[in-house]
Amino acid sequence: MMTSALPYANGQIHIGHVGGAYLPGDIRARFERMAGSDVVWVCGSDEHGAAITLRAKKDGVTPREIVDQYHHEMQEAFKGLDISFDHYSRTSSEKHHRVAQDFFLKLLDQGSFEVKTEAQFYDSEADQFLADRYITGTCPKCEAPGAYGDQCEKCGTALSPTDLIDPQSTLSGATPELKDTTLWYLPMGRHEGWLKSYIETGELNGGAHHDASAWKAHVTGQCRSWIDSGLQSRAMTRDLDWGVPVPVEGADGKVLYVWLDAPIGYITSTMEWAETSGQNWRDWWQSDDAELIHFIGKDNIVFHCLIFPILLKEHGDYILPTNVPANAFMNLEGDKISTSRNWAVWVNEFLAEFPGKSDELRYVLASIMPEQKDSEFTWADYRERVNNELADVLGNFVNRVLVLTRKYYDAVVPEIASQALTAEDQAVLATLESAPIKIADFIRRSRFRDALQEAMGVARLGNKYMTEQEPWKVFKTDAERTAMIMNTCIQVAGNCAVLLEPFLPQTAKKLQTAFGISNAAWEAVRPDMIAAGQKLGELPILFEKVDEETVAAQVSKLESARATASGARMDCEPLKETMTFEDFQKLDLRVGEVTACERVPKADKLLQLTIRTGLDERTVLSGIAEHFEPEEVVGRRVTLLANLAPRKIRGIESQGMVLMAETEDGALRFVTPEEGSSAGDVIR
Ligand code: 2FM
Ligand code: ZN
Repeated sequence: MMTSALPYANGQIHIGHVGGAYLPGDIRARFERMAGSDVVWVCGSDEHGAAITLRAKKDGVTPREIVDQYHHEMQEAFKGLDISFDHYSRTSSEKHHRVAQDFFLKLLDQGSFEVKTEAQFYDSEADQFLADRYITGTCPKCEAPGAYGDQCEKCGTALSPTDLIDPQSTLSGATPELKDTTLWYLPMGRHEGWLKSYIETGELNGGAHHDASAWKAHVTGQCRSWIDSGLQSRAMTRDLDWGVPVPVEGADGKVLYVWLDAPIGYITSTMEWAETSGQNWRDWWQSDDAELIHFIGKDNIVFHCLIFPILLKEHGDYILPTNVPANAFMNLEGDKISTSRNWAVWVNEFLAEFPGKSDELRYVLASIMPEQKDSEFTWADYRERVNNELADVLGNFVNRVLVLTRKYYDAVVPEIASQALTAEDQAVLATLESAPIKIADFIRRSRFRDALQEAMGVARLGNKYMTEQEPWKVFKTDAERTAMIMNTCIQVAGNCAVLLEPFLPQTAKKLQTAFGISNAAWEAVRPDMIAAGQKLGELPILFEKVDEETVAAQVSKLESARATASGARMDCEPLKETMTFEDFQKLDLRVGEVTACERVPKADKLLQLTIRTGLDERTVLSGIAEHFEPEEVVGRRVTLLANLAPRKIRGIESQGMVLMAETEDGALRFVTPEEGSSAGDVIR
């Protein structure tokens, strides 16, 4: 049983998500299917919690509209990147609500929760209790500002709203009041003992549960530090109107904590999958033969390694996670990926701009996957990997193999005459023997970068072998040797066509078609997998090179997207030199009203305005004739710089200046004081 973190349906999928929880899951799932293992991999949209309701509020729409939109868009992104979930569900479904409520009730009935009525932070302006992302403050542990009511994102500490220093409502900015409410708590402290051995040694109920040494050190380390600092009770309900309603009488307006219902979403998703595929979901969740692997990002470790296991164990019928190979974070061009700052490479945008290039993105993300520590995506690196590795090594190699086979043998795989193998032949064939075993081992240990390196190493070796053996030269003198070289190259390419499938499914399919491979099972990979006498097919160009301009365009798109998100404008003039208040006081700015307006003869740009200033009625020339008709200007209230030294233009004296704003696209707008002001009002 494999799961990948249910993404919040409050935004688009970006490369950080993909490299964190979805690509590793996909590589593993594809590999397991090819290896003939029984595997089911589920996911779905996480549609509850403050992430959703806050987004809805920000956009001025309902939570339902938000989740419907993103549930759809996220599925598009996954499909476009060939993320091959067996099932993708959503937590706002009726079915999931029932499954989550039943789970909660079972725990409630057997006394797994503590019910407490106590004072909680409340925003009286917004008429709402504040938890999770509804409240921020300073982290009591690392003193970082902006920690949330459930977690400090800086240091990872789990928090309760009342732990925060200087708490503030994210709804109104107000300091919240305290008000009584009833909450159901999970007393995590009760579970410290068994959790410790489950995490540290892989023991459960006195027996071996899993191989703890197979867990990533950073995952075990994070769990250890949580347990060592003492597990606090954690509220499993919230006073909100969006979520799975607490199935208890009198609990109106209360829903399950999103981190209770979301992981249960894995179970619901499996149930839905089982219904449509004639399987029994219990075989995957409630059988001692089953294994449970959660692919997640490091911010979800505590929920999957401590809280969810407690819930599963308390329930009693379920197996516990066998491994949680969490990944760290992927940064982008030297900065943290951030949805709110629009600093991200969005999958749907990438797919629209680079159609047919999903394997390229998968390749780069797998190459830099943050398996043990944070990593970094840059467009320059993307270009280098696509050009130097995919195009120059893999693409070039298989292309040369096909071209030469066509040229020498009319595309038919040549027979090898019995002859001694050279050391180089033997080295290549030995690699073909060992590579599938090594790659399988790496994938099963979540070492996807090494697995991909190993698979690409096969192509690299083939490319080098061909270059060194120079079949184009040998062909002129030694037909038997040429056949040996070419047959070996064809085997290497055929092996690549299968070994690369978990990473590059589109490319692998094209290669398999060209090399006539119909059974792409892992066990089909052998040093002699392509039979002599078989005719090879056509291969489209596999990879196009990426040019420098593409890199520059993507980097500048990021910069401008960020500038827009931060409110800055790309075309903005730099700030002028600082001036003093005394300087400012020299300006006589006042509201004027235009009483007449006409064109200035022989001056295309000038309008002559008659402006009532409260003091007088005067003439002002303004260079706006290309933007406004005189009749559009009459009657307007304007901002007038009244003490500008008079100036004669085309024989007319202009006594002041009308202030205009220039928009991004070069249009002009009057700076008009708000309704209620009138000619003569002083502006200061
Ligand atoms: O961090 C997140 O995006 C969460 N929505 C992950 C949930 S994982 C699971 F438990 F469903
Ligand atoms: Zn902190």
